[in-house]
Amino acid sequence: MRYKKLLVVLFIFSVLQLQSKEGMWIPLLLEKYNLAEMQEMGFELSAKDIYDINNASMKDAVVVFGGGCTGEMISDEGLLITNHHCGYRQIQSHSSIENDYLSNGFWAMSREEELPNPGLTVRFLEYMEDVTDEVLEGTEVFDTEGREEKIKDNTRKIEHKASERGKFFTQIKPLFYGNQYFIYVYKVYRDVRLVGAPPSAIGKFGGDTDNWMWPRHNGDFALYRVYSGKDNEPSAYSPDNVPYKPKKYFPISLEGVKPGDFTMVLGNPGSTMQYVPSHEVDMIMNQRDPDRVAIRDKKLEIIKADMESNPLVRIQYSAKSASISNAWKKWQGEILGLQRLNAVEKKQAFEEEFRNWAIANETWESEYQPVFQNFDSLYVVYQDIVKASDYYSEIVLKGVELFDLASRFNNIISSIENRQTRIANAQILAAEKRVTSFYKDYNQPTDEKLFEALLPMLNNDLPPVHLPEYLPEIISKHDNGKLVRKVYRKSVLTDMKKLEALLKKGNHRELLKLRDDPMIKLYNRLNFHYEANIKPVLDNVNSRIRQNMKVYMAGIMQMKEGQPLYPDANLTLRVAYGKVEGYQPRDGVKYTHYTTLDGIMDKDNPEIYDYNVPQKLRDLYETADFGMYKTEEGYLPVCFLASNHTTGGNSGSPIVNGKGHLIGLNFDRVWESTMSDIMYDPDMSRNIAIDIRYALFIIDKFAGAGYLLEEMELVGIETEVVDSIH
Ligand code: ARG
Ligand code: GLU
Repeated sequence: MRYKKLLVVLFIFSVLQLQSKEGMWIPLLLEKYNLAEMQEMGFELSAKDIYDINNASMKDAVVVFGGGCTGEMISDEGLLITNHHCGYRQIQSHSSIENDYLSNGFWAMSREEELPNPGLTVRFLEYMEDVTDEVLEGTEVFDTEGREEKIKDNTRKIEHKASERGKFFTQIKPLFYGNQYFIYVYKVYRDVRLVGAPPSAIGKFGGDTDNWMWPRHNGDFALYRVYSGKDNEPSAYSPDNVPYKPKKYFPISLEGVKPGDFTMVLGNPGSTMQYVPSHEVDMIMNQRDPDRVAIRDKKLEIIKADMESNPLVRIQYSAKSASISNAWKKWQGEILGLQRLNAVEKKQAFEEEFRNWAIANETWESEYQPVFQNFDSLYVVYQDIVKASDYYSEIVLKGVELFDLASRFNNIISSIENRQTRIANAQILAAEKRVTSFYKDYNQPTDEKLFEALLPMLNNDLPPVHLPEYLPEIISKHDNGKLVRKVYRKSVLTDMKKLEALLKKGNHRELLKLRDDPMIKLYNRLNFHYEANIKPVLDNVNSRIRQNMKVYMAGIMQMKEGQPLYPDANLTLRVAYGKVEGYQPRDGVKYTHYTTLDGIMDKDNPEIYDYNVPQKLRDLYETADFGMYKTEEGYLPVCFLASNHTTGGNSGSPIVNGKGHLIGLNFDRVWESTMSDIMYDPDMSRNIAIDIRYALFIIDKFAGAGYLLEEMELVGIETEVVDSIH
């Protein structure tokens, strides 16, 4: 009997242990759900040190960087660190053949040399708050559709009020599929300047080859500075702006990491789907991922070949190809991970458990059986329509590049046709700007190859109902490149000068004539079919799945009552905690928790673009000039692994130790963990961080920008000095 009890206790303990690392937790609720466990694992501070609205706390040092990354403050003079790949587009847009910051890196040697980045913003979170009651107020009396409208209406009003007349950017987001709502209130800074970026051969070392993999040797960091008006408040770019004084910045630890150390990642994970039904998992791994991988195989084959043979194309397409390749590779890992975990069977087993719980509760027949019956029928429709939408998205929306311009002209034309003069003029102005930036990174021969390869895929892989009526005909009539020639030779969209002149003049009658442009016409037909026949079905199914998910989720929450549960990621501030640890990817193989400069030198190969180590770094390695950045054993650390639950959007997130000191920047996950957005695996799920000491070493020894370290607060140096004396 006692033995049995012990087993139960042990079992519960091991379950807790397993679960301890999974989760992206809400900072506001740490005290209630997580703090005890965090402290047990080695966290030495309080929940208020992480999130507090009355006093400076870590959340004041963490920002949403650009559209979807995280960054953090590391000095009281506005200095910010994030990943190299998060600022990649900015670094690229400052680059040309003559001034190639991608290849050579960029380092401002004084404040005057820092480079402004129009359009780039960082958002600081002022506070978050549970507004469920306010959002749902007065919704009880409506049916489903009316309720959604009322929720939207309430949301707008609450957001508007909280914005205090535009002082803040506010966002209400549903949690747990609308079983809860939170408001997030941000201050947005718009003058963010580039301070330093290592060459790609460091910041993107290993490139797409090493992406999503361990062992990793990527110095994936870049430095920016946030500027404000003299009152420390947001201000548009101005030479008179001054460095922003944050409420809080992270001290930087030189102590390094060892296995078992507590780690915490604060950041803005973008999206996960931990609670979806087995139907969705099945569809992702057996249809959506393979479809999108196949389309991107083609895109990458074409783009990579042209990049290799032409240095200008390499610069023009580097950011585009990195972003195509990133998800492409992740989806492949995700399929393998879901297969390895038997994810569909696991979900089905959970659904069985849920059913039994509901039966015991006498809620199955009334509440949840209908939900699952709905899932069964909804996913049949969804599977078909999502295939079409994935193809349009990959090929029309972000495949053939000229479709981007075509869509703008298509919008202008329809505004003119509808006599929406003001809207049309605004669109003309926006298009004028877009044409210039579009052409800076456009190579027509590459695009023609994309057109030739991708359009037939649309035609061959989708059933006729999902295609504009005459498309199959046109494509089969114009094989062997005839269509491509016709469209590209005749379209005005390939002529930048003409387009610019046309837009500058802005004559509506002339613009209307573009209705007959072959590219715009083709785009118009595809887009029309999508808007009329695909999107409405997709939206409808999506919304019905969401409604059913809300009920299912409420059931899961009830079933798990008393256990902490985290909501799916939604690009808001979350806390993940875990520890420094390696892992065993497969039988007989064990990965250590860190990599070093030795590994970079092992990979060094001047013949391979991704592995061509800069000469200066080779020299530093030869002389072993590692300064205070080396470990006790004398090696220079580069990256390390930890078991924090992270996803896209967590890039650039601070990873801190138990004292709240910065030890690294998150930038990736390992190959065997790419499925953790859907199903976390405590044995395999590891996030990859760049060791902060490697970043400091590059700034100081490699770039000679050591002056930047003076404004940082470095801790743990004394220990090192003491150690080296002993
Ligand atoms: N896999 C990382 C992330 O999801 C890094 C991506 C950038 N690097 C690259 N080689 N494409 O964003
Ligand atoms: N590299 C990813 C990002 O840009 C983070 C890695 C992940 O998805 O876990 O957000």
